[in-house]
Amino acid sequence: MKRVALIIAATALVLAMAVAIGWYIDTGNREVRSGTVTGTGTAEIGGAFSLVDQHGQRRTEKDFAGKYLLVYFGFTHCVDACPLAMLAISQALDRLPPEVVDRVQPLFVTVDPARDTQEQIALYLQNFHPKIVGLTGTVEEIGVAARAYRVPFDAPKPDANGDYQVQHGTVIYLMAPDGSFLAHFDHVTPAGEIAESLRRFVEGGGA
Ligand code: NI
Repeated sequence: MKRVALIIAATALVLAMAVAIGWYIDTGNREVRSGTVTGTGTAEIGGAFSLVDQHGQRRTEKDFAGKYLLVYFGFTHCVDACPLAMLAISQALDRLPPEVVDRVQPLFVTVDPARDTQEQIALYLQNFHPKIVGLTGTVEEIGVAARAYRVPFDAPKPDANGDYQVQHGTVIYLMAPDGSFLAHFDHVTPAGEIAESLRRFVEGGGA
């Protein structure tokens, strides 16, 4: 009995930590929603990165200074959270007037650089809003970006067909024009909610 209690306590602790950090894990086969946090504007999320976009251009955080960034880490072979997240972002932008969309820059950063070449990402993003910039790079470069945004990811061994699903955090971060963290959504946040939040921040000149 003691052992069971210990396991329950340990599980509760891990869950509490996940909630505190605000991670949503895309397990590949099903989504585990581990909790929610409220943006305080003080969370140390974000930072420098240097990656390559779907057109082959080297891009850093400086290229997007002055924009409200929607930052999402995922991969094009994802069959769960990623298409939902990209769709939610696309539909949110579709609902907003051009002057608001103009201030917003969505970024899709791959956590699967081995398969997500710039060509693959370009192909993938044809399914979504044209404003989305897709970013790839070396494993090291992706690691720097993922650590800055505190996005956990882990690729299991490929199956017999060479296929695999990368487990990864599924938070959509909203960053202010000055690079500070404003709020977050995830792949199940309704597009209307994302749109309203963007409109509020952009029109209110938040941060
Ligand atoms: Ni995914």
